[in-house]
Amino acid sequence: MKQLFSMDKQNYNPDGPVFRRPSARGIIERDGKFLVMHSRKYGYYKFPGGGIEAGEDPKEALIREVAEETGCVVIPESIEEYGSVFRRELDTDNPDGIFEQENYYYFCKVSEESVERKPEDYEIEEEFVPEWQPYLMNLVHENRVHLRRGGEPGIIERELRVMDMVDEVIRRKHYEEAEATAIRALGDEDYAGMLAYVKSVLESVETEGEGGVGVHKLEFGYSRFEHSKRVLGWSKRLYDMTPGKTGLRYADLMIATIFHDVGRAESAAKGVMSHAAAGVPITRDYLLAHGFDEERTEYIAGLVGAHSDKWRMREPDIDRNLLMLMEADYLDDMGVLGLVMDTLIVRARNEKATFYDCYNHFSRYTHPMMYDSPMVTPEGKALWNEKTELVERFMEQYKRDITIGKI
Ligand SMILES: [Fe+2]
Ligand SMILES: [Fe+2]
Repeated sequence: MKQLFSMDKQNYNPDGPVFRRPSARGIIERDGKFLVMHSRKYGYYKFPGGGIEAGEDPKEALIREVAEETGCVVIPESIEEYGSVFRRELDTDNPDGIFEQENYYYFCKVSEESVERKPEDYEIEEEFVPEWQPYLMNLVHENRVHLRRGGEPGIIERELRVMDMVDEVIRRKHYEEAEATAIRALGDEDYAGMLAYVKSVLESVETEGEGGVGVHKLEFGYSRFEHSKRVLGWSKRLYDMTPGKTGLRYADLMIATIFHDVGRAESAAKGVMSHAAAGVPITRDYLLAHGFDEERTEYIAGLVGAHSDKWRMREPDIDRNLLMLMEADYLDDMGVLGLVMDTLIVRARNEKATFYDCYNHFSRYTHPMMYDSPMVTPEGKALWNEKTELVERFMEQYKRDITIGKI
């Protein structure tokens, strides 16, 4: 099991005898709530679990301890390793000794059935009760409050750090689930497969390389794949907003959007070709290999190849799918994302950048860019103008806030 972190109080004689007592703890979520033990007497929280007896398997100990403390029954097949925390400190039962504890944490589920709780003496003394709690961050906070009031660190500090880490793991999991749901909602084509393919192609520019490849020209960590996913979201949004859908081919638009920047890897590596042109053969090969007919393949690859020709947006007879792809592409990185991007650039170029440096950059980039709208369709304009309004209000307040001290 991977170690999450270790805690060593160094308050013992290093040559003293070592007493070891490993433990197993459960991170149990059901319907968005976590099963935790709450000490009513002291106000702190911990994950259910406890010591592993001699000869006992850690997972058996987990099942037994959860049942004894909470009355809930762990489903054995649901047990998944998370990580361990190692603790070393003075053995309170032996002033010459060292107490060592490896704490194994597991994700697991519990069934609907319940058994009788068998609390230990100290659990009765501390008035421990099992509770289903919705926000781990609240428990982290309560534990911190308890520590500040002089609560005994060690266990509580360990628990709050693990809760903090689990909170992030869960957040990421929910984000990924939401993304998977969104991809399924796009429709019947194998969009997930296409996204995975584009990701694999773009990974070469996102993670490695030399001579500018891998480091974005803007000098901060910009992911071309994340951009592609956001543009996909904008294409879908624009499509859904558009009445009549005249001239639109939904699936073709989605696929072209997924592939639109796939050529970035090659153009960055070779440093010559336009990335739109580089994307054409990559898109074509993928679609033909996946059973698309030639005509449809050429049409979609053509959208990819033309997506950079932004001057065509104002041609009255422009293909509606191409126009929508271009508008979607423009909508990403603008508005709030533009402001944050400006900030990242300022910071990348100058470690000691100030609020005023940022203001300067906003005033030269995102702010004026918002007033130079490339949008053509009413839907594109509506989304763009919404962003412009926000940037305008942001700039007003930002200016006020950084100049208010000039008295
Ligand atoms: Fe592009
Ligand atoms: Fe793009």
